[in-house]
Amino acid sequence: MARQWLRKSELNEKLWKGDKGESLLDSSVAGVRTALSAESLAKILLLVVVNSVFLLAALHLLNSKREFDNRGDRSNCVTNYRLNNVHPMSLSLDQNRLIQSSEFAPKNESNQENIRQFDTFGVAVHLFIKMSAYRGGSNSFAIIGLEAKNPGELYNDPPYECVWIPGPDSLVWAPLKGSAIKMLPDTGNVYSRLYSAVIINCTFSQDVGVDRKGGQLVLYASYGDQYPRNPERIVALTEQPDEFPGVEFYESSDMKYDYVYCGSPLFGNLSPQKIREWIAYHAHFFGPRSHFFLYDAGGVHDNVRRMIEPWIKAGRVTLDNIREQEKFDGYYHNQFMVVNDCFHRARHLARWIFFFDVDEFIWAPPNDNSLPAILARYENQSQIIIWQKPMSKSLCAQEQGEAGNDSSFSRLRSKWTFEKLVFKSIKWRESHDCKYAIQGQKAMGTGIHRSGHLIGGNATTYADPLNYYHYHNTINKRDEVCEDFIDKSVVYVNPRNRTDIYTHDDGLAVLADHIKEFERDVIGPQSFIL
Ligand SMILES: *[C@@H]1O[C@H](CO)[C@@H](O)[C@H](O)[C@H]1NC(C)=O
Ligand SMILES: *[C@@H]1O[C@H](CO)[C@@H](O)[C@H](O)[C@H]1NC(C)=O
Ligand SMILES: *[C@@H]1O[C@H](CO)[C@@H](O)[C@H](O)[C@H]1NC(C)=O
Ligand SMILES: *[C@@H]1O[C@H](CO)[C@@H](O)[C@H](O)[C@H]1NC(C)=O
Ligand SMILES: *[C@@H]1O[C@H](CO)[C@@H](O)[C@H](O)[C@H]1NC(C)=O
Ligand SMILES: *[C@@H]1O[C@H](CO)[C@@H](O)[C@H](O)[C@H]1NC(C)=O
Repeated sequence: MARQWLRKSELNEKLWKGDKGESLLDSSVAGVRTALSAESLAKILLLVVVNSVFLLAALHLLNSKREFDNRGDRSNCVTNYRLNNVHPMSLSLDQNRLIQSSEFAPKNESNQENIRQFDTFGVAVHLFIKMSAYRGGSNSFAIIGLEAKNPGELYNDPPYECVWIPGPDSLVWAPLKGSAIKMLPDTGNVYSRLYSAVIINCTFSQDVGVDRKGGQLVLYASYGDQYPRNPERIVALTEQPDEFPGVEFYESSDMKYDYVYCGSPLFGNLSPQKIREWIAYHAHFFGPRSHFFLYDAGGVHDNVRRMIEPWIKAGRVTLDNIREQEKFDGYYHNQFMVVNDCFHRARHLARWIFFFDVDEFIWAPPNDNSLPAILARYENQSQIIIWQKPMSKSLCAQEQGEAGNDSSFSRLRSKWTFEKLVFKSIKWRESHDCKYAIQGQKAMGTGIHRSGHLIGGNATTYADPLNYYHYHNTINKRDEVCEDFIDKSVVYVNPRNRTDIYTHDDGLAVLADHIKEFERDVIGPQSFIL
């Protein structure tokens, strides 16, 4: 018994590593005993007792008594495992092995059928993959990750439990169980592959951690099936003492930025020049009180990085390397998970959060071009939808291709892409491929073309004067985009497809010189790398 207590106190110390004894983590059982003062040992024992009471309650769910036998290293290896770090021994101790074939053996001895055994090797699909967890207020959190698709689809019961464990110095000792609401942002699993993106909203009936003594958000994820498997214990978030920024941070309308950009992950052979144009344009469009969260899913090669780095130095861009998520088979570089990570990290940084891609340019008509004024009209909307202007990826204006000698060609080449592609499909108002912005406080999660998890009544409207120019299929074109040079005063009908019709639209192109100057002013001269 004593041994078991100490094993659990060790586990609790792991939670608070750095607090009472930096060496505890690695110390022997005897070491733990001597390293702890009587007082802190009493505290830990109390925590363990309360913890155990909760754990028992949680496990009641599955009628399993195995929890304490299996807790510890083993449960970590399934949730946190990195292939390279897993000792072969721990793989063979995988949770799945806990279902012994004997549990499926018929109880009737006289039954003559052959019982076949299935030997399992490795773990190809994880129950849950955590990307992040963010506090959303004094009593709520969001956990963002991936879940194995099947349990989510087959069993309606959300197999999650949230618990808050107060920090060791908190006057509050009891762990608190919260409500766990699960959201599937990929419109209910239709886009999921082996994994579905999931957001778990943990809300507690009272404020947690507001005494600024730190604490820990723990998520229990059960398998949700009929087999006797233990839930996985996932430490979703650890808040250090003094880390809680105060209730005002979550409630004030006075935020760090006016606008935050959240985008889909960057992947593929991106054109550095086009990324350069996109950042410069939007850094100007959204103004100095804006910030861009970019996610590298393999698209930020060296020359793209050269374009992004000056903006990182200028404090305008944050770049995250998320290449590891490629190991987990979700929709499109786990786009749904990534936009939700961005959404929840930005939720209290700016009132409006914009979602669109790096081949899309948000634009407001020049006579109506104050973004704050436009957004003020939609202050009571949770979400605004922005219309697309689908642009041709190859039609340029005739005068740009004139003469066709070497010097005019090099002049053409050095122009920016949005300066050259000036023909818009007449089908633009029929296009439903929309992008959007949401007020962070009025949503709990988001999607790709819009959020389906809004809070409150006034949901969604089209933000009419706002549009975005969409240069589809250009972002990874590494050579000249202009293929045909068209008279801009006429309507162009594609000779190979009579319904494919374009008209001239240089609303964005006319801004090019101004944007180039702005870029030079802010980050200095940049190289042109197509
Ligand atoms: C055991 O199985 C045999 C053959 O299937 C059947 O006749 C018998 O009734 C079963 N006994 C019990 C206790 O279920
Ligand atoms: C969790 O859900 C509640 C509504 O039930 C909402 O008020 C809160 O903002 C959400 N928290 C997060 C972090 O999304
Ligand atoms: C938004 O709602 C507030 C309160 O109901 C109201 O005073 C304001 O006029 C509304 N704003 C707009 C643009 O409709
Ligand atoms: C909805 O919008 C109307 C008009 O803009 C406003 O008066 C009302 O207060 C809004 N309601 C909510 C719940 O925001
Ligand atoms: C190339 O064409 C431009 C007009 O676009 C003309 O001004 C220039 O003289 C020409 N250069 C040569 C070498 O023909
Ligand atoms: C012709 O163009 C229209 C409009 O761009 C498009 O919807 C349609 O798919 C095209 N047809 C073919 C055969 O490419």
